[in-house]
Amino acid sequence: MATINSNYLKLKAGYLFPEIARRVNAYAEANPDAKIIRLGIGDVTEPLPEACRTAMTLAVQDMGDRASFKGYGPEQGYAWLREKIAAHDFQARGCAIDASEIFISDGSKCDCGNILDIFGHDNAIAVTDPVYPVYVDTNVMAGNTGEMNDKGEYGGLVYLPISAENDFVAEIPSEKVDLIYLCFPNNPTGATATKEYLKAWVDYAKAHGSIIFFDAAYEAFITDPELPHSIYEIEGARDCAIEFRSFSKNAGFTGTRCALTVVPKTLTAKASDGSDVELWKLWNRRQSTKFNGVSYIVQRGAEAVYSEAGQAQIKALIGFYMENAKIIREQLTAAGLAVYGGINAPYVWVKTPNGLSSWDFFDKLLQTVNVVGTPGSGFGAAGEGYFRISAFNSRENVEEAMKRILDKLK
Ligand code: MLT
Repeated sequence: MATINSNYLKLKAGYLFPEIARRVNAYAEANPDAKIIRLGIGDVTEPLPEACRTAMTLAVQDMGDRASFKGYGPEQGYAWLREKIAAHDFQARGCAIDASEIFISDGSKCDCGNILDIFGHDNAIAVTDPVYPVYVDTNVMAGNTGEMNDKGEYGGLVYLPISAENDFVAEIPSEKVDLIYLCFPNNPTGATATKEYLKAWVDYAKAHGSIIFFDAAYEAFITDPELPHSIYEIEGARDCAIEFRSFSKNAGFTGTRCALTVVPKTLTAKASDGSDVELWKLWNRRQSTKFNGVSYIVQRGAEAVYSEAGQAQIKALIGFYMENAKIIREQLTAAGLAVYGGINAPYVWVKTPNGLSSWDFFDKLLQTVNVVGTPGSGFGAAGEGYFRISAFNSRENVEEAMKRILDKLK
């Protein structure tokens, strides 16, 4: 008789965003005339930059000619893309990252989960609360946690609470943890990390032999020039951090799929015999075995992000979404709500009014004004009483959603 990975039975019934979609679809079915505006999942709405589309069209033509046709590409990604990323995203910011340390993939969500393949099951793992649920759920699936308690916390994980009281940046734990997930600019709160703050984590990680998983999927939305975009801007991070990046949000690739993970060759962790093992080698082995790379066409599209036209076009795209974030921030603040984030991140994190629970506020907005957001409690117990609003939508929809919410809150 076949058996299952029973760790899956420890999971909450549904992943947050499909669960929201399920509730919204049920509402839409019962109310076919409702004009629902979705500001829940951070999914982009604006067209792909022209430079990317042109590059992909040319790449399709390459595929139609035997001389330029491509079969399997390198599992790690094409050198021409990795080199542009290394030069533009890292070396230009003073980070000593080599192209060979960059692994192209089909998404940061996948990489954040897949990275656990190369780590043991006996690590103490820290996550913030609230947190991007993928970090928690993939550890549950991998068998790195116990059962969930009444608060929605899994045994075996160290939860670092973030709230308005600590500006949504976690205190460095007094206990020793081996793996730490950090996400800046933060999903879901929109909070940011200074260089000093990240330096404190790097010092902690180096002192304890820990590895930081640094999710920088939203770095392009940083507007404050003092803030670091990469953890490798911090001295010593090459020895303790893996960084995840994505083309999903900066270049609108959520449906196109391209991302990258940086694993420095200087990074090691312990084998069971106490010896140091290079993580780069393990990740390279993992990717070569389980992954056949991102399509040539998509990688050409991602490469075009680094052209002069591509840079101008993604700047405009990011500026567009950040103007949405500003509108959301300003309108909700004017309505008297406590509003966070949305300045260096495309997410606005709002305290629910009148002490409503996150899901009650979700239901209220859905049913009374047909606007969808994300309940803060879906990101963890400490997100209860908060609500996330995504700036990824058309201007018209954002303005209309704010108008409806404000009319309701009056
Ligand atoms: C979100 O809404 O938190 C994001 O869309 C999740 C993701 O990028 O996977």
